[in-house]
Amino acid sequence: MEKMLFKIFLLFATTSALELEPCHKVKIGDNWYEKQVLWSHFGRPYNLNVHKTSNTLFFSYSVPESYSDVDFQLAFYNMDSKEYQTIAGIKGGCTVAIDQATDDIFLGGSDGIYKYNMLTKLADYYKEKGKNVWSLFYRRNLFYISYPDQILHIEVDGRFAVVKEFERFEIDHFHITNDDVIYFANKTGLYKYDKKNLEVVVINELITVRQVMEDNDGELYVCTNFGVFVDVKFEGLKKIIDIKNIFGIAFDRDNNLIYSDERSIIKLLYSVQGCPVNNSQW
Ligand SMILES: *[C@@H]1O[C@H](CO)[C@@H](O)[C@H](O)[C@H]1NC(C)=O
Ligand SMILES: *[C@@H]1O[C@H](CO)[C@@H](O)[C@H](O)[C@H]1NC(C)=O
Repeated sequence: MEKMLFKIFLLFATTSALELEPCHKVKIGDNWYEKQVLWSHFGRPYNLNVHKTSNTLFFSYSVPESYSDVDFQLAFYNMDSKEYQTIAGIKGGCTVAIDQATDDIFLGGSDGIYKYNMLTKLADYYKEKGKNVWSLFYRRNLFYISYPDQILHIEVDGRFAVVKEFERFEIDHFHITNDDVIYFANKTGLYKYDKKNLEVVVINELITVRQVMEDNDGELYVCTNFGVFVDVKFEGLKKIIDIKNIFGIAFDRDNNLIYSDERSIIKLLYSVQGCPVNNSQW
């Protein structure tokens, strides 16, 4: 009987301890956000990119190599219809570039560039067969970075050529903003290219960049091994998320921030109410 009472007491003790639940909201600047998990898997998601018209998130994730010879897989998740699908037929599919104006969606892997067909939901071969594509980027022209030499190429008049200004050094990430500012990153750091004076400007040589992404208002976000930064005009890089395990970042049609950690893709939804104390859980 005594034993039983003791058990009951323990049960109560545990329940009341549970009332001190952690608050799952996160704070960025002065605002609080609720986390909504969009996707969760045992592969690490990278290279997030949203096709704004259909509110579809395209991304790649790593696949354990023992399963097959494929080490990266492309997939999409439609945030309106909640439809999820992997994209078949692209070996080592690891990168996405979207022309938001014409709805052209380019996909790259270890055997060239493909174009995603929204109607058939298939990827059709596009160009550069046999080329190992590390990264794709679209702004007025389609760009790709080849692997393993990390050389930037641009498509002009239907053909790809090496970008002369950058041919002497490696490029891992390339981005041109809506205002025509050129950013690039490699293993050494993050840089801007000053088109007027034809020179490279160092932004930061301590960080390793994982993704560069503009939000729907043209604000530039840099996802790094030291957290997420915004490049503020006349001020430079300002850290907005002090978390090291963020691997990709994108913005949905309504400009909500989407990010990935080791195994999940999470959307942040603005919340009027925050956590009672500073115990936000990333
Ligand atoms: C990265 O780019 C900078 C600036 O152009 C260059 O000085 C550096 O050598 C590059 N790093 C690599 C590994 O190519
Ligand atoms: C909560 O955060 C604010 C601002 O960062 C700080 O001033 C305050 O001391 C923190 N409070 C606690 C209980 O940590």
